[in-house]
Amino acid sequence: MNRPAPSPASWQFDHAAIRGDFPIFSRTIYGNPLTFLDSAASAQKPRVVIDAVRNLYESGYANIHRGIYMLSQEATDAYEATRETVRQLINAERTEECIFVRGATEGINLVAQSYGRTFLESGDEIILSNIEHHSNIVPWQLLRDEKKLKLRVAPVNDDGQVDLEAYKALLGPRTKMVALVHVSNAIGTILPVKEMIALAHEVGAKVLIDGCQAVPHMPVDVRELDADFYVFSGHKIYGPTGIGVLYAKFDLLEAMPPWQGGGDMISTVTFEKTTYNDLPHKFEAGTPNIAGGIGLKAALDYVTSIGYFQIQEYEKELYAYASERLRQVNSLRMIGTARDKAAVLSFVLEGIHPHDTGTILDREGIAVRTGHHCAQPTMDRFGVTATVRASFGIYNNKADVDRLVAGLEKVKEIFG
Ligand code: ALA
Repeated sequence: MNRPAPSPASWQFDHAAIRGDFPIFSRTIYGNPLTFLDSAASAQKPRVVIDAVRNLYESGYANIHRGIYMLSQEATDAYEATRETVRQLINAERTEECIFVRGATEGINLVAQSYGRTFLESGDEIILSNIEHHSNIVPWQLLRDEKKLKLRVAPVNDDGQVDLEAYKALLGPRTKMVALVHVSNAIGTILPVKEMIALAHEVGAKVLIDGCQAVPHMPVDVRELDADFYVFSGHKIYGPTGIGVLYAKFDLLEAMPPWQGGGDMISTVTFEKTTYNDLPHKFEAGTPNIAGGIGLKAALDYVTSIGYFQIQEYEKELYAYASERLRQVNSLRMIGTARDKAAVLSFVLEGIHPHDTGTILDREGIAVRTGHHCAQPTMDRFGVTATVRASFGIYNNKADVDRLVAGLEKVKEIFG
C-alpha cells in the first residue's frame, strides 16, 4: 500500500506484491494453488479492505448520522469520507450525486422506480443492448408493464459488438431512456458508451450506464461520458458485498421522488405529511451498510494506489496472453470476439457441457463461472445456453492462465 501515484512515465509494477495483498491466495483447493478466475462475479478482497471492516467492528462501530457521541461521529466521518472518494474516482461534480445503494442492481431499480415511474409515460421507449445483464433488463420490464412502455433492443454483431447503425435507427422522439452495460459481464465487450450517450442525448433521452465490470479495470469519468446515471457494485472492485453506488446528475436527483421511505431520508414526519432530507440522504432510507461503505473506501483507495494506468497496462498484457493461449486449445469456441474487450473470456468446448468443464477445473483449484452469467439474452444471441467464463482481477497472472489451459486439456482428455 501507499504506492506512489502512478503515471505512464513511472511505469513499474510489482505484481507479486499485489497478489500478496490478497490473503485468499495462501489457501489451497483440493491440494492445488487457488486459480481464481471469477472476478466478474465477485472479486477477492485485499487485506486493507478486510482490516478496515474488522477495525470498524473491533474499535469504531456505532450507527451513523444519528449519534452525538464520539463513536457515532467517527463512524459517520469514515462512512461519509467514502462518498468523497467515490466522487473523485468517477469525477462526479458533487458528493450529493453519489448515492449509496446495495449494489448496481438496487441502483438500477431505484432509477427505474423513481425516475422511470415519474417521468416516463405510456408509449415511451427504453432502449437496451442485446448483451445486458438481467439486472439491466428486468427492472425496465417491470416498469414497461406498469407504464405501458416499449422496450427496444440494440443488436450486436457476431463478434459481440453493438451495431451502432442499428442503435441509431432505434433512437427517436419516443426514446426516453437508454440503459447500457459499459463492459459486458458475459462476453467482455466494451461498449462505445460515450458515443452512444451523445447519440441518445440528441433525441433527448436519458442514459443509464451499468459500470460494474468497467470500474475495476478502467478509469471512468462520468462528466466526460456525460452519463445521466452510472451504477457500480463495490464487491466487484475488491470491496465488500452489499454496498454500491448510484451516480446521477444533481438536477435529476432533485427532481426524482424518494424510492424507499424510512429513517435518514426524512426531514420532518407527522402522520399528515413528511418532508424529505436533502441529497444524497433522500435516497438512503434506513441504517446503511456502514461497514460496507467504510470497506469500499479502502478498496477504492487500494485501486487508486495501484493506478488505472498500471491496471490497464497489466491486464491488457495478461488478456492478450490468455486470448492467444486459449486460441490454441482445439475445439474451443470463443463467445464474443469484439476488438474492444476487457477482463472476460467466455467460451465453450465443443461437445462438453460448461458445467462439466467447470467441475473438473474446480478439482484442479481453478474457479471459473459456468452458466448463463445472468445474461440469458446474450447466450441466446450466440446460440448457446451456457459458457465457461474466465474473468480476471488485478491479482491474476500468466501462471493462472497456464493452469487454466492445462485444466482444459485435462477436461478434454476426460470427456473427449
Ligand atoms: N453478475 C455477476 C456475474 O457476472 C454475478 O457473474
